[in-house]
Amino acid sequence: MELPPFRIEQYFARHEFNTQHLLSASDCEPLGVGELVQLEPDAAERLLALRCGYSEPAGSGELREAIAALYHGLSAEQIVVTTCAEEAIFLVLHAVLGPGDHAIVATPCYESALQLARSTGAEVSEWRRRFEDGWAHDLEALAGLLRPQTKLVYLNEPHNPTGTLIDQWSFQRLVERCIEHEVLIFSDEVYRGLEHNPADRLPAICELSPSSVSLGSVTKSLGLAGLRTGWIATTDAALRQRVVDLKYYTTICASSPSEQLTALALRHAPELIARNLELINDNVMLVEEFFAEHPDRFEWVRPTAGAIGFPRVHGIADVERWCEGLAAAGVLVLPGSVYDEPRHVRMGFGRAGVQDALAVLGAQLEDLDAEG
Ligand SMILES: Cc1ncc(COP(=O)(O)O)c(C=O)c1O
Repeated sequence: MELPPFRIEQYFARHEFNTQHLLSASDCEPLGVGELVQLEPDAAERLLALRCGYSEPAGSGELREAIAALYHGLSAEQIVVTTCAEEAIFLVLHAVLGPGDHAIVATPCYESALQLARSTGAEVSEWRRRFEDGWAHDLEALAGLLRPQTKLVYLNEPHNPTGTLIDQWSFQRLVERCIEHEVLIFSDEVYRGLEHNPADRLPAICELSPSSVSLGSVTKSLGLAGLRTGWIATTDAALRQRVVDLKYYTTICASSPSEQLTALALRHAPELIARNLELINDNVMLVEEFFAEHPDRFEWVRPTAGAIGFPRVHGIADVERWCEGLAAAGVLVLPGSVYDEPRHVRMGFGRAGVQDALAVLGAQLEDLDAEG
């Protein structure tokens, strides 16, 4: 299996742990173990009593129950727990695709979806959205990409990197079209729950179509990336079994302390998410004010879901080099070149400290203006 460099993760590995201000994180402010165990009276005691042996390959019963409760009409038997969403992307794509198959990946996207689909030997088409169209979903273009060999469409809503959310009408048409063509929808829903207006939340794909898979995680919406817990939810029993069978070759089972802490957090997801959304909505306003102070530099489709946005930057010839300079000056902004969108940058606003990060960015822009 040949895989090209994972540009997004390589950029973060280089800068995330040695740059003072993170202005591009896609997750929310991380919670401490101490905060988690305070959520239930006996949680600390249960964690200390846990034996760190293997857990069930599909995930502990306690965790699968907590995950199933997030969906309408699904049971614990329709969940597979994975070691983060990333593992689930690998497992689902390799369980479904192989040479001779065709897949469609909505882009720009989190890189592994595209590269891991290609690594299966399947032919992969990009269903690319454009800033010039307001990142709209062109359903006619999607229809033109479908082939008799198409087995899977990868979708990511709410979306990394634009922070946009497909509208209800387009979502419904897309689902209908895929059902009609018997194409599996692999729906990466790791930002679900972070709709800036909770009324915008779409149904999970696993609730709508029997030939579909929802991908979830506690990394983004709950700020629990360090637990490395992800999952898939699907009513397709045969596919679920293929994913479990493949998982014996990757991790066998998840980490038992992480499973216990994740189940605990998920039982309190609404309150934890509400707290994160408050910070996101405050921070988006700060970013908008900042853009208003620099109207010649930034232009964006205002994000409506998740903790990131993807503005176009004006007046800077080499945005990637500029981002490297910003990191050296203490503020991490991800260059859009890692998504093959070299005129854009990804900005994150789910963390504390956005105001300080923007102050450093503003000072850098002033220097740039002074240089003329
Ligand atoms: C759309 C999307 N899917 C999956 C992942 C991977 O998430 P995790 O860290 O839980 O594996 C990310 C991480 O940035 C992402 O943005």
